[in-house]
Amino acid sequence: MPSSTITTITHFTRTQIADEEEKHLSSECKEVLLSLPKERGWRTAFLYKFQGYWCQAKEIQAIMAFQKHFKAKDTDIILASIPKSGTTWMKALSFAIINRKNFPIISDHHGHPHPLLTSNPHDLVPFLEYKLYANNQIPELSQIADEPRVFATHIPFASLNLLPSMNNIKIVYICRNPFDTFISSWHFLNKLRSQGLPEISLEEAFKMYCDGVIGFGPFWEHMLGYWNESLKRPNNVLFLKYDDMKQDIVSNLKKLASFLGFPFSPEEEKQGVIQDIAKLCSFEEMKKLDVNKNGKSIKDIENKYLFRKGEVGDWVNYLSPSMVKQLSLIMEEKLDASGLSFKVAS
Ligand code: A3P
Repeated sequence: MPSSTITTITHFTRTQIADEEEKHLSSECKEVLLSLPKERGWRTAFLYKFQGYWCQAKEIQAIMAFQKHFKAKDTDIILASIPKSGTTWMKALSFAIINRKNFPIISDHHGHPHPLLTSNPHDLVPFLEYKLYANNQIPELSQIADEPRVFATHIPFASLNLLPSMNNIKIVYICRNPFDTFISSWHFLNKLRSQGLPEISLEEAFKMYCDGVIGFGPFWEHMLGYWNESLKRPNNVLFLKYDDMKQDIVSNLKKLASFLGFPFSPEEEKQGVIQDIAKLCSFEEMKKLDVNKNGKSIKDIENKYLFRKGEVGDWVNYLSPSMVKQLSLIMEEKLDASGLSFKVAS
């Protein structure tokens, strides 16, 4: 078969799958999609460039609903990230820190297990775009009496529309080195490819990543949006790195807890509460829980796919020297001037 025929068939299949994926979108969203640049997607047939970032159609619908209806509260906490940067881990750590009076880390007086032993972190801290505002829902968030309300998101900083009245809102951004984020995304998204879409090879995926075409990419823009804000408003935005947290969890947890407004007391430090939280939320402990081996806490995603290797530097097993060079150059070009750097690329 000539290659042009193969391309046509693949495109045809993609279009059919996209029709299926986009069938239930609102007519307003469908209308918006028509005006947006479109590229081949990773998980879904297509990604669309919306407000400067590559998103799936359903994500765009959710962002539009969020932008129209979300009313921030002064005490809100938002955990932000680009996918595959340690979002699940950050949700677990923040939940454990914020709720430790109600849910002691070890076990409460009545022997109740900690919620993180029986629930996946995505059930405890909901995503704005995959849960609360998904499928054109408008959640009644004003009815949440508990403070702080804690949400998570992959929405880029500018699209959160929180400026200029951020007041005391706190955002924690977890950022991972782009080498590992790419490898983690490639494994993850190939597992989730919509039915009928063939796997994306490492080479193809790498090219898309370097072109910025990945969910919520370009990755450098996503990182810089939050990075620059963390420099301008350190009381509002805390920028943490996955890689640093893996290396020194204790000092990063102290930083996180103080920023969130739940600092550890000297007494707690003496009792080893920080180490207990680190252990409860560690990759090894979380991966082996039944709740994280079974079920789906985010629509269509098996919880077990959220826990792969949990290491820093796995990329050395996949990337060729020329790929390493190419990605290092991109990082240099896009990030160096901002002061955002990663230890991995030499
Ligand atoms: P790998 O694919 O490199 O293993 P996200 O939660 O943003 O989807 O990120 C997923 C990545 O974080 C995966 O990386 C996953 O294994 C890792 N991860 C999940 N839980 C973790 C934990 N408790 N500690 C450290 N890493 C974790």
